[in-house]
Amino acid sequence: MPLTPVLTSRYAEDRSWTIETYERTEGYTAWRTALGMTPDEMVTLVKDSGLRGRGGAGFPTGMKWSFIPQPKPGETPTGPAAKPKYLVVNADEGEPGTCKDVPLMMADPHSLVEGVAIASYAIRCSFAVIYVRGEAVHAHRRLQAAVAEAYAAGHLGRDVHGSGVDLDVVVHAGAGAYICGEETALLDSLEGRRGQPRLKPPFPAVAGLYGAPTVVNNVETLASVPFVVRGGSAWFKEFGPEKSPGPKIYSISGRVVHPGQYEAPMGTTMRELLEMAGGVRPGHELKFWTPGGSSTPYFTAEHLDVPLDFDSVAAAGSMLGTTALMVFDETDSIVEATLRFTEFYAHESCGKCTPCREGTYWLVQILERLVAGHGTARDLDLLTDTCDNILGRSFCALGDGATSCIASSLKYFKDDYVALLPPDEQGRLGRTLHIEPVAAMA
Ligand SMILES: Cc1cc2nc3c(=O)[nH]c(=O)nc-3n(C[C@H](O)[C@H](O)[C@H](O)COP(=O)(O)O)c2cc1C
Ligand code: SF4
Repeated sequence: MPLTPVLTSRYAEDRSWTIETYERTEGYTAWRTALGMTPDEMVTLVKDSGLRGRGGAGFPTGMKWSFIPQPKPGETPTGPAAKPKYLVVNADEGEPGTCKDVPLMMADPHSLVEGVAIASYAIRCSFAVIYVRGEAVHAHRRLQAAVAEAYAAGHLGRDVHGSGVDLDVVVHAGAGAYICGEETALLDSLEGRRGQPRLKPPFPAVAGLYGAPTVVNNVETLASVPFVVRGGSAWFKEFGPEKSPGPKIYSISGRVVHPGQYEAPMGTTMRELLEMAGGVRPGHELKFWTPGGSSTPYFTAEHLDVPLDFDSVAAAGSMLGTTALMVFDETDSIVEATLRFTEFYAHESCGKCTPCREGTYWLVQILERLVAGHGTARDLDLLTDTCDNILGRSFCALGDGATSCIASSLKYFKDDYVALLPPDEQGRLGRTLHIEPVAAMA
């Protein structure tokens, strides 16, 4: 499978982030095309392309846009349809291993700005916000400069290109917490409150920012939109499987010869991507890897040929997530790696619900004990039991995600946990309370 640079096609251009480079390489032509279409035609085009959200959950983008309540012709709008509409870009990118959105915003910020303009037009919104991870000051500055260039060129502002369309775009610095990437926590944070998830329903499409209909989309999702408009839905669908099409940025990190961003069609396998990245470092063997960041269950060498698209990865027992492929070899301890991830979740748990707030704290205590060589045979069951009491019982997906690395490491590498137990505890194994593996991993 070859590299297919689409979203990354401008990365190697001289001063790729400037509007001069962008417009020289067909930039903003999709926005002009969009202005010649109706908003409903734009929603249909994106629906037909099969584009699915790149923020982790893979929700169909055109369908999400179509959920925004719109006034009916000839009727006086009431309820949510009468309110202003908002577009919010999720550029919080906090998932460990995930590093695709910041490079995109640095190398080609105008593709995001153009995607924001087209999406805003499609949902009939005249105010969009780009919520950028607070620590990514460099990306924030670059986007601000790109937005200023787009205003100066008349792509944003009042009566864009004489179309009668008004659009303002604001770049907002995030609050520096992983939970602020969860879309409803992000909206609370944007409104000036502490970022904590909201109860759903109502979903943001009905009551989002300031209680008004809102679309929240990921950076890579929106940056794909100008390419869909220029290439057409049939062209977009040529990349990858029918139900999960499009070019995709895979971020490969860890024990590979050439870590980095690799753009290839959806459904490319890890075996093919590893080849592109020069393979696992010489003299070493792949042990385990994450298909989509730290909240997705680990895969092993037996999963090298799973097509990396939403449905195939789910069928194989994990999640595509953000296609953050973290590669570990035989020198890495899976229990220690799992402890590091779990420390992250315990630190980032927002504290709103008990299973996640308490559970992640206790998971760290148990894993620390095991890594220090002071664990007991019962601790292995206790890990599973604690995960069982978090998974499906937490208020948001952060809690569920925290259990993925533990449950999947126990599933594939239980012997590595057992090897850490003191010899007398190893003898007790089988005599402790036995708890079935957590439902999602069974
Ligand atoms: C704890 C947590 C963190 C998240 N962080 C991000 C993030 O940094 N960026 C992102 O796009 N989506 C993130 N998401 C997913 C968003 O809630 C949401 O599904 C996504 O922004 C929707 O965009 P999409 O439809 O374009 O994928 C996160 C979800 C959870 C539960
Ligand atoms: S699952 Fe964790 S992050 Fe989500 S609401 Fe509960 S405590 Fe907060």
